[in-house]
Order: sequence, then structure tokens, then C-alpha cells
Amino acid sequence: MSENLGVENLFSIKGKTALVTGGSSGLGLMMAKGLLQNGAKVVIASRNQQKIDTAIRELETYGKVFAFTCDVTDAIQRKNLLSFVSSCLGSLDILVNNAGSNWGAPLEDYPDEGFEKVIGINLNAVFSLTRDAMSVLKMRGDEKDPARIINIGSMDGIHVPIVQRVPTFAYSASKAALHHLTKAMAIELASRKVTVNAIAPGFFESKMTDYVLKHYRSDIENDCPLGRIGQEPEMVGILLYLVSRAGSYTNGVVIPIDGGTSISKGSREWMT
Ligand SMILES: NC(=O)c1ccc[n+]([C@@H]2O[C@H](COP(=O)([O-])OP(=O)(O)OC[C@H]3O[C@@H](n4cnc5c(N)ncnc54)[C@H](OP(=O)(O)O)[C@@H]3O)[C@@H](O)[C@H]2O)c1
Repeated sequence: MSENLGVENLFSIKGKTALVTGGSSGLGLMMAKGLLQNGAKVVIASRNQQKIDTAIRELETYGKVFAFTCDVTDAIQRKNLLSFVSSCLGSLDILVNNAGSNWGAPLEDYPDEGFEKVIGINLNAVFSLTRDAMSVLKMRGDEKDPARIINIGSMDGIHVPIVQRVPTFAYSASKAALHHLTKAMAIELASRKVTVNAIAPGFFESKMTDYVLKHYRSDIENDCPLGRIGQEPEMVGILLYLVSRAGSYTNGVVIPIDGGTSISKGSREWMT
């Protein structure tokens, strides 16, 4: 008997449980909202309590959401986060490693501290939380519905960013490494019926992109073959694909959601 291929079945995530790091703003907030609106139960985790409180007020209108204040780079806080997840949600179907940070400076002024901070959040913490989350992740042993890990990479991990003007050495290096880590983890975890994939967004509105969008929005839009930045449904759409039945056989891939920007570099000259 063939499975029901209607979108209501193919893309359903009803009743699934998810942890979204950095779920208090930007892309994390968009994804938490999309998961909730489709019937998942969600924990968001980030550092700033005020941002969490504001996010929760919005998110609880969409469904069952919990929040935990946590710095994902801190081993003890990660352990406490996972205990919280376990007590609120039981086991975890979906881990979205989204928390991230950036640092821009000219080469001679680029501090070790900035480089280490970005690598620490964007790469090291993703590895550590994924490893630690093995105890909470649902090991269904179900090939049609494996547990899912989604890493939020970046188109800047595919190409070297130019529109920001100020170099972001650590950011693009961290995201390129995260894309590769995604593939290594996908192979490692496949036998446990866990898939690992990355989404590599182009520009979307968020606190992180506030400054560049304010100053260089038209350059950014011109740099994109589709001539615009990304929008909330486009981020949520790819996430729903990856975490539903539809995405069960997709493993170890990096999916750019950037309107084609990462493949169009070099097609126009930049004025400084
Ligand atoms: N927006 C874009 O155009 C774009 C494009 C490509 C990739 N991305 C990626 O998307 C992800 C989200 O970024 P965003 O653009 O949505 O930026 P954002 O609005 O600044 O969100 C970053 C989130 O991460 C949290 N966070 C940062 N450091 C953390 C830490 N050490 N522990 C726990 N939480 C932490 C922040 O909350 P607290 O500060 O309160 O901790 C916030 O909730 C990042 O990985 C970013 O690299 C974004």
C-alpha cells in the first residue's frame, strides 16, 4: 500500500519536538514560529532574557513553546539546557543549530578574540551541542522518520562574501567548516537513523544583518539573481521539507536558500 502523498501527510510535523538554538530573534524566531504553526512543540534557547521574553510572547500565540536561557558555548549550560528539553519535551525529534554570530574588521585590526568568538559559537558549539544531544535525540530506528539535525550555515560558507565591505574572515571560515561538519556528522549518525543537513541562507532581515541591509541593501539585492533578500516563508519552507517525511532520504547536504547569489559571484563589478 503506497503512502499518502498529499502535502498534509508528506510535510506533516504534527506532534514532533524541536530545539531551536538562537530562537529568540531573526531566523531562529522565524523557524520556531514555522515549527509551532505546523503543530510541533518547541524549546528555544539563547542568552538574553529580555529577547527571550519578547520572543515567547509572540511564539506562545502559535503553540506549545518553552524557553531556556543558555549560552551554547558553555558546557554546563548546554547540559542544563538538555535536561530542560528532556523534562519539557521528553525526547527530541529535531535539533536546529541556529545560534550564530559575526565579527567584521580589516585584516590588521582583526583580533584573535573576535576570530575565536565566532568559531566558538558558529562551529565548536554546534559540534558540542550535537554530541551532547545524542542522549536526548529520539533514536526511533525508523527509516521513514529519522531524527533530524539541521545546521544553519550560510552562503558565505560557499563563496567569499564581498558586499559587506568589511571582511568577516572568521564567519565565512566557520560556516564553510560547519558545512563540512554537517557531512561528517551525516555519515556518522546515519546508522542511528539520524539525518544531518545544513541550510545555507543568503540575506534575510535580522539583528545580524541590520547594519549591512541599512547601508548596502541595493548592492545586496543587485548581487542576487532574483533581485531581493529572502523572506520568512522561504526559510520555513526548506526547514519543513527537511524535518518532515518529505526530507527523510535527504542526508548530508548543504542547501543554499539565497536566490542564486552564491553561484553568481563575479558577474558584476563592485564600486568601493
Ligand atoms: N540573517 C541572515 O541573513 C543570515 C544569513 C546566513 C546565515 N545566517 C545564520 O543564521 C543564524 C541566525 O542568525 P540571525 O541572522 O537570525 O541573527 P540574530 O538575529 O542575531 O540571531 C542570533 C541568535 O543567536 C543567539 N545567540 C548568539 N550567540 C549565542 C550563544 N553563544 N548561545 C546561545 N544563543 C546565542 C542570539 O540570542 P542572544 O544574543 O540573546 O544569545 C539570537 O537569538 C546564524 O547562525 C547566522 O550565521 C543568517
